[in-house]
Amino acid sequence: MTSFYLSKPYDPPQAPQNLPLDRPWALLGGKSPQQFMKSYWHKKPLLVRGAIPAFELAKKLGEPLGSAISPEDLFKIAGDDAVESRLIQAKPWTFSNGPMKKKSIPSLETPDWTLLLQGMEARHPAAAKVLSWFRFIPDARLDDLMISIAGPGGGVGPHFDSYDVFLIQMSGRRRWRISKQTDLSLNPNLPLKILQNFKVEQEWDLEPGDMLYLPPHIAHDGIALDAGCQTWSVGFRAQSYKELLQEGLWRLAESLENIPELEKRFADPQQRATRHAEQLPEEIIVQLANKLKDLKLDRVETFLPGITAYLSEPKPQAYFDGMANNLAPEEFTRQLAKQALKAHPQTRLLALGSVIYCNGEDMTSNQAAQIQAAWRALAANRQFQGSIPKNGANSSLFEAFEAGWLVF
Ligand code: SIN
Ligand code: CO
Repeated sequence: MTSFYLSKPYDPPQAPQNLPLDRPWALLGGKSPQQFMKSYWHKKPLLVRGAIPAFELAKKLGEPLGSAISPEDLFKIAGDDAVESRLIQAKPWTFSNGPMKKKSIPSLETPDWTLLLQGMEARHPAAAKVLSWFRFIPDARLDDLMISIAGPGGGVGPHFDSYDVFLIQMSGRRRWRISKQTDLSLNPNLPLKILQNFKVEQEWDLEPGDMLYLPPHIAHDGIALDAGCQTWSVGFRAQSYKELLQEGLWRLAESLENIPELEKRFADPQQRATRHAEQLPEEIIVQLANKLKDLKLDRVETFLPGITAYLSEPKPQAYFDGMANNLAPEEFTRQLAKQALKAHPQTRLLALGSVIYCNGEDMTSNQAAQIQAAWRALAANRQFQGSIPKNGANSSLFEAFEAGWLVF
């Protein structure tokens, strides 16, 4: 059943800037974002029938909807070497990494294959809009939007993920089987991460517009039932504590470069004659303890700028095209008064209080007040329109525009 060709592409709406957090929402099965976070997020699975009501409505009217992106467009995207893609085949399990030549992708009707495309928010505005629905969850937790397209029987096999995911059915049907099993051992003889003993506990066939939320470590297997089955996965990320602390500590160590006071050498005019010459002198210990306190290196706040900067780094595969943004500074300022400047879909923006980090860099310190305000609006709404000072050419806003991190 190649329903795609008979259906109209679904045009997802952009979420409102102030998502109502306490109102029931079809996307979350009639729960409010607050209720969802309290009872399900990072805790238990949630199946939502009709998460996108437009699909059911259109079907009732005899004009079924399909994915916003056609199979041909997805195959074209899979050929781009800037896109992370994988082709997985079952029976037997094999996989290859992209870029994919059109010829190497089986036809939609061929059974037992799936193509996975990461970072799709940067490749199609519809994917970026779907991501906007999930901004009741902190941006720091968001990873990306992956799209899978499959032939009948296609899937990645029974497995578990270490992250939260919302699996949105966009075209054709997919059978999801899940289990809360604690045995998560993997089959050592396969090139893919596939569970050795998958014991199905629940099973559902998802139709276009349905959604399944899974917290980390729930065993699952999604099998395409129709040719051209598309599932859009909004995936989250969580770093290990080790990664967070190491990244914070490295950046903190680098920031000590800018403190001239620390260039002074250790001095110990108080050192007394010692009988334990091998021991680290008490003088060093006491003086270092004082330095740590003076520099607030014993306080979490001191680590947060480095950690926020780290979390705001874009995915390594993110691609920004600065060349496309060739406006002179005055034109940029004029344009900004007329048109909204938007964060590129793969630009990460995070706030630590009123300091804004964009793609790993502090954008607000030492900037004019209007530039800072523009960055705060960008971080909050992922867009900004308004006036900036005439000398905005030297601003971090113009620099980010030139780098392709911000786009009109
Ligand atoms: C898919 O095939 O779209 C699902 C990927 C997953 O289970 O993580
Ligand atoms: Co998975």
